[in-house]
Amino acid sequence: MYRVLKPGGVVAWVVGDATVNGEKTLTSYKQAIYFQEIGFKVYDVIIYEKTGSGPPHKNRYFNVFEYIFVLSKGNPKTINLLKDKPNKWAGQETYGVVTRREADGTLTKKTKKVINKFGIRTNIWKYKNGRGQTTRDLIAHGHPAIMPEKLVEDVLNSWTQPGDVVLDPFGGSGTTAKVAFLLDRKYIYIEQVQEYYNLAKERMKNYDE
Ligand SMILES: C[S@@+](CC[C@H](N)C(=O)[O-])C[C@H]1O[C@@H](n2cnc3c(N)ncnc32)[C@H](O)[C@@H]1O
Repeated sequence: MYRVLKPGGVVAWVVGDATVNGEKTLTSYKQAIYFQEIGFKVYDVIIYEKTGSGPPHKNRYFNVFEYIFVLSKGNPKTINLLKDKPNKWAGQETYGVVTRREADGTLTKKTKKVINKFGIRTNIWKYKNGRGQTTRDLIAHGHPAIMPEKLVEDVLNSWTQPGDVVLDPFGGSGTTAKVAFLLDRKYIYIEQVQEYYNLAKERMKNYDE
């Protein structure tokens, strides 16, 4: 990924940990540290909170998150942070009083008006997952591990622009390809299992034809 990524390009690595022999694998951490060691900048870390993954465990808290490691080659060339966190100060007359000393030595107090209704979102992104939530494309559910389309949309809107190339080397049901296409990005899809490749190709017929 590092080799084929253009300078300023970004990888969004979505990963959770398995529990094996009664303990968490921490594969996510190991991968993140490795990415940093080989030259990636770990530009951001986002928690992808979901409705749930797997059945609850009777001796362990119910896991409802994965990581999204945002890795860049140098600084990202595109950063469009999503602004959808309701701003509780929106519309208020006074917020943050700024005191300024004028040239004649007097002090003036200026009130800052907060115009935006929404602020930049936090680094916990919540999506519903499971059947009917990740996508409305029924065909996609032939794949066992689909990502929510909205997650891909948010990632692409944050760190890419129309015309950019988006590559998913673990293409699965084709979620990234579909969303990239609908957002006017070019896409490259790679998948090792023939059945999933066929499924994604069939799914994409509804969009890219
Ligand atoms: C978690 S799924 C990705 C699902 C996809 N994001 C979606 O929304 O449908 C991971 C996919 O990567 C594929 N895969 C795993 N190792 C691979 C490899 N070395 N080369 C290509 N595909 C691989 C798996 O067959 C699986 O379909």
